[in-house]
Amino acid sequence: MSSNQDLQKRRDAALARGQTNLLPVFVEKAENAELWDVAGRRYIDFAGGIAVLNTGHVHPRVRAAVERQLGKFSHTCFMVTPYESGVALAEKLNAIVPISGPTRSMFVTTGAEAVENAVKIARSFTGRSGVIAFSGGFHGRTMMCMGLTGKVMPYKSSFGPMPGEIYHAPYPMAYQGVTEKQALGGIASLFKVDIDPQRVAAMIVEPVLGEGGYYVAPPAFLRGLRDICDKHGIVLIADEIQSGFARTGRMFAIEHAGVEPDLITMAKSLAGGFPLAAVTGRQEIMDAPEPGGLGGTYAASPLATEAALAVLDVIEEEGLTGRADAIGEILRDGLEALSGELECVGDIRGLGAMLACELVTDKSTREPDPELTAAVMREAAQRGLVLVTCGMYGNVIRIMVPLTASDAIVREGLDILVECLRDLSARRAVA
Ligand SMILES: Cc1ncc(COP(=O)(O)O)c(C=O)c1O
Repeated sequence: MSSNQDLQKRRDAALARGQTNLLPVFVEKAENAELWDVAGRRYIDFAGGIAVLNTGHVHPRVRAAVERQLGKFSHTCFMVTPYESGVALAEKLNAIVPISGPTRSMFVTTGAEAVENAVKIARSFTGRSGVIAFSGGFHGRTMMCMGLTGKVMPYKSSFGPMPGEIYHAPYPMAYQGVTEKQALGGIASLFKVDIDPQRVAAMIVEPVLGEGGYYVAPPAFLRGLRDICDKHGIVLIADEIQSGFARTGRMFAIEHAGVEPDLITMAKSLAGGFPLAAVTGRQEIMDAPEPGGLGGTYAASPLATEAALAVLDVIEEEGLTGRADAIGEILRDGLEALSGELECVGDIRGLGAMLACELVTDKSTREPDPELTAAVMREAAQRGLVLVTCGMYGNVIRIMVPLTASDAIVREGLDILVECLRDLSARRAVA
């Protein structure tokens, strides 16, 4: 069998530089919150395939559902000859989203496609073209999503021109000194300087910023967006692709604020590792596009829709919203204790088990420390913990451990992270 090093060499020679991998860890098998590489080394998985595995790697219920489906058929195209699981999943999503009144759903394959389609639907409904997104937001790598994303490197650099009629307002980031009042003021300023609100079709917001650094939008900010959208007839889209499916202690993060969006984009943990994404929203908006205007060849793959139905059962039956709170508490307690001890731990923030730790060179200046952050990620992998980073400056460690992980596994991973931070910051102090 090839080693991690051999596979990394082959990978570098075969794949485009732009599609990189964060760690030279080639996976052989995975189960719940653990994985094993080709050398047989065990890792605790705090990345969860970037928030895809809220129900863990290969949950037995998901596996059984997919295997059952594979015994029947793997593809027909839901837009040609559909099947019950696609209908049942739409019914289920319509029932669980925090939107009152009649709702409808549509399926695609990736998060970026869900965002693309939410914008198409909003444009079709309003007959307008402008879209407002936020600094630090991440919405995917397709053309429209790249335009909506509020971070240049590496997502936008060299890929221009950007699609038209996209405007960015500040996202509230208390640690960076951006208050919710300033963020809302940014939208007022857009309406003065850049676009008439009557030309804006949609506003898209992550209730908790994912790639942008795990900033939690204050409820008053989300209520403010709702008011602006109501006043001007703008469609409010909540991008719950990373924050959804119990991660924050509620099924959807926006529920914490008591705000109803018009449309919700979903992907990642929806189908436990199978490629599936959805848009669910108010019926009159969702039904604006003409028949055939939405969809795709692999949209609502039967393997993925069966997996998603099993995922939703697991979230409910295993009480994963409660587990998100409990896991979040363990992680927060451990990291907050460390924050008093280490100069490099600048901020700990998040909601439920969507938790992050921002690393700085100095607590008073809050100067980002992306080098230390990358070193912690590499060192943690050496010690058997898979971590990934995020943030505008690449100096935030984010945790997306499966919500099915036991307390013991969460504590074991946390201990590795804490020891890495202690050792690397001590080495830095000596150097
Ligand atoms: C909030 C958010 N929106 C959209 C996307 C894009 O999803 P995908 O990578 O499946 O296209 C992501 C992916 O990280 C995300 O976190």
